[in-house]
Amino acid sequence: MANEAVPIPPDLTAALRAGRRVVVLSGAGISAESGVPTFRDAQTGHWARFRPEDLATPEAFRRNPKLVWDWYAARRAQLQRVTPNPGHHALVQMERRLPHFLIATQNVDGLHARAGSRQVLELHGNITRTKCFTENLLVDAWTDGPETPPKCPRCGGWLRPDVVWFNEMLPAAIFEEGQAASARCEVFLSVGTSALVYPAASLPLEALRAGAVLVEINPQPTPLTPHATHFLCGPSGQVLPALVRAAWPDAHPESAQ
Ligand code: OAD
Repeated sequence: MANEAVPIPPDLTAALRAGRRVVVLSGAGISAESGVPTFRDAQTGHWARFRPEDLATPEAFRRNPKLVWDWYAARRAQLQRVTPNPGHHALVQMERRLPHFLIATQNVDGLHARAGSRQVLELHGNITRTKCFTENLLVDAWTDGPETPPKCPRCGGWLRPDVVWFNEMLPAAIFEEGQAASARCEVFLSVGTSALVYPAASLPLEALRAGAVLVEINPQPTPLTPHATHFLCGPSGQVLPALVRAAWPDAHPESAQ
């Protein structure tokens, strides 16, 4: 379906150009155009019969560690086949043009860093990192045996992905850094998130309370939409490059330059 261009409000491009501090909260939607299923889309393929909430919890892992490990292994393998999309690249351009820019991502796919973004807070961890379930410490090498999950080379406990599961706390220092940046920014972009999961979903509200311009980029409205200064209704792979081009006409946001 041809998407007509989403109009970019002139006062928004002016705020971005004049802005010194911009914070982005990104969710699964920014990776959708890279082919990564969003969290609340129906699970595709082999995993269609499971709900993520039944896989991404410590209880689910204790109940069936092999199933949970294999689900993440399948998602890691799928990530090998995807690349950042123009939405990720547009944020790299934005970072290069602003004195203070930060992405707080809920995504665990590592695509912002792969696109070249440097100031990225991984609120929910990173699926490509592995840690010991018993020690809660990272493990970067282990011996793969016939059974999964593999075992910690230090203590023999199960290995697990270094991601935040339901009912688990976010890494405190990382979330606090996101909170502090949200309370100081002039423009806050909420991109590709259903804005349902706290505490990440509190960041745009923190920015709004501090007087920031709040922009939501999503093809669907969310509970955040009524609070947004600007709701840019469209796919981030189109809207973010348009936003960057409008604010910095000499930018080439789609490319990986
Ligand atoms: P969701 O799957 O809840 O929401 C994805 C959002 O992206 C929806 O609002 C879609 O409308 C939107 N979307 C889809 N395609 C898009 C596109 N091309 N461009 C822009 N937006 C698009 O994913 P999240 O909001 O990221 O947490 O979910 C937040 C958290 O819920 C996840 O990090 C995960 C889950 O619990 C943990 O695992 C701890």
